[in-house]
Amino acid sequence: MVKHQANPLRDHLTRILFTEDQIQKRVAELGAQITEDYQDKQLVMVGILRGALVFLSDLSRAIALPHSWDMCGAASYGSSIVSTGRVQITKDIEVDVRDKDVIVVEDIYDSGRTLRAICDLLRVHQPSTIEVCTLLYKHKARRANEVAVKYRGFDMPDEFVVGYGLDYNEYYRNLGYIGVLDPKIYT
Ligand code: IMP
Ligand code: MG
Repeated sequence: MVKHQANPLRDHLTRILFTEDQIQKRVAELGAQITEDYQDKQLVMVGILRGALVFLSDLSRAIALPHSWDMCGAASYGSSIVSTGRVQITKDIEVDVRDKDVIVVEDIYDSGRTLRAICDLLRVHQPSTIEVCTLLYKHKARRANEVAVKYRGFDMPDEFVVGYGLDYNEYYRNLGYIGVLDPKIYT
């Protein structure tokens, strides 16, 4: 595990929601669970760019099974903290997933639109199974697109968070922890 230096961006957060240690411990647990569940399967991990990059990288190394990975791209947020409501596929996968067992790896499950669009995209490639693993699961009063999530790292309130891959305007991804962004930054 990489040890992080003190980061001046820490001052942009109102509080830390999940520390580096908590995240690493939970990722190890998810990796162990997936290792147990995918013993006799042909696992392919598919991360969603760009937010899931950090999570996928740690999670993959916590899985003690041969597996491959790829990334696909989806964009919905633009530069604001509110989803535009439309999901654009920006990159398809390149690894062959036909008859394989895919786990889609996402940083955060918010409205569910991104995961819905990505699962639709992946089904076209005819994998034998598709499951979803999200690090964060936002609790919302209403959600338009429910997608079954088999693995979830942490449940969290409906707040805008950054760090460990999650961004605001493409920054904060390199923080080792996850925290609530101070509304002063985006208002
Ligand atoms: P959904 O399609 O509404 O579920 O949104 C999922 C995508 O929006 C994620 O892949 C994130 O990139 C982004 N997102 C949602 N909530 C947050 C947040 O709290 N912080 C940073 N990005 C977020
Ligand atoms: Mg984003």
